[in-house]
Amino acid sequence: MLTNCDLERRVDTSDEWITSRTGIKERRIAADGEFTSTFATRAATRALEMAGVTAEEIDLIIVATVTPDFPFPATACLVQNNLKASRAAAFDVSAACSGFLYGISITEKMIATGSIRKGLVIGAEVLSRIVDWSDRNTCCLFGDGAGAVVVGSGDDGTGILSTHIHSDGSYWELLHQPACGNRTPASQKVVDDRLAHIRMQGNDVFKLAVRAMDDVAHEALHANGLTLADLDLLIPHQANRRIIDAIGKRLGLPEEKVFVNVHKYGNTSAASIPIALDEANRTGALQPGNLVLFDAFGGGLTWGAVLVRW
Ligand code: UT7
Repeated sequence: MLTNCDLERRVDTSDEWITSRTGIKERRIAADGEFTSTFATRAATRALEMAGVTAEEIDLIIVATVTPDFPFPATACLVQNNLKASRAAAFDVSAACSGFLYGISITEKMIATGSIRKGLVIGAEVLSRIVDWSDRNTCCLFGDGAGAVVVGSGDDGTGILSTHIHSDGSYWELLHQPACGNRTPASQKVVDDRLAHIRMQGNDVFKLAVRAMDDVAHEALHANGLTLADLDLLIPHQANRRIIDAIGKRLGLPEEKVFVNVHKYGNTSAASIPIALDEANRTGALQPGNLVLFDAFGGGLTWGAVLVRW
């Protein structure tokens, strides 16, 4: 665990600044020997246990991540091997903080078309290894972690009602990792110029995030003939408490209908919604029969929403 006070010793910042600007108090950091696949496998194992499903029943594994163990093979293949999910096809999705919702959307469509019966969707990140620990603008924001869900089909009226995913690549530079893709391969210059780390124009991202998450929330409800009054819980991507509060306010939702845990984990990108979902479920914030909306925004730019009857 890394607290704001720990960060005060690394860069010119303060617990007061981080708390008031982001709501974040602490974040989890992977230990040496822990990788994205380690967390993804752990989360997947717990999801399978909770669902009462065996690894052999899984047809598809998607890992949503921007911090894969390797450029290739996909982290999802490493997870497939760890789980011994011998029947599953496996691949990664790169849609930054919206990746988990992209993964849900793909899986739901593949189930609907009859291509698969059960899928495992995992959001997992070790962002601490691409954070620039000398950049106070970004190093206080991010954390490591993973969450996972098993997606299947049922006929009791619960489940995924609809998925909505969007992107606008014209804003790609607002949030990106400049090097270590083939445009700028790894080199001594990349290390010296700190190009293998997250770069973000936070203020611009902030404004676009609030607008897009607001729009896509309305889109999801409208597509199902529902209104904000029908919603029991909003689980937004946990990037910044101020973004979450702004969206809650724009949607006119009372505080108790907006799930927040960013203070404990920071922004875990693709992992943030499944981590929050698990916590909401285990703490009872989410009850059977509730209408819950997942709402995300991230680099790409990408954004999306998934509406679920829990
Ligand atoms: O996961 C999806 C993508 N990411 C996000 O959604 C994040 C979106 N953006 C944000 O959360 C916010 O923009 C930040 C938290 C990153 C920054 O908050 P802000 O209110 O937009 O601050 P700012 O960028 O306008 O910076 C204000 C000042 C600057 O100083 P000057 O230039 O006004 O003198 C920064 O240098 O705050 C300074 N600053 C800091 N000061 C102390 C930036 N980081 C820090 C820091 N400690 N850690």
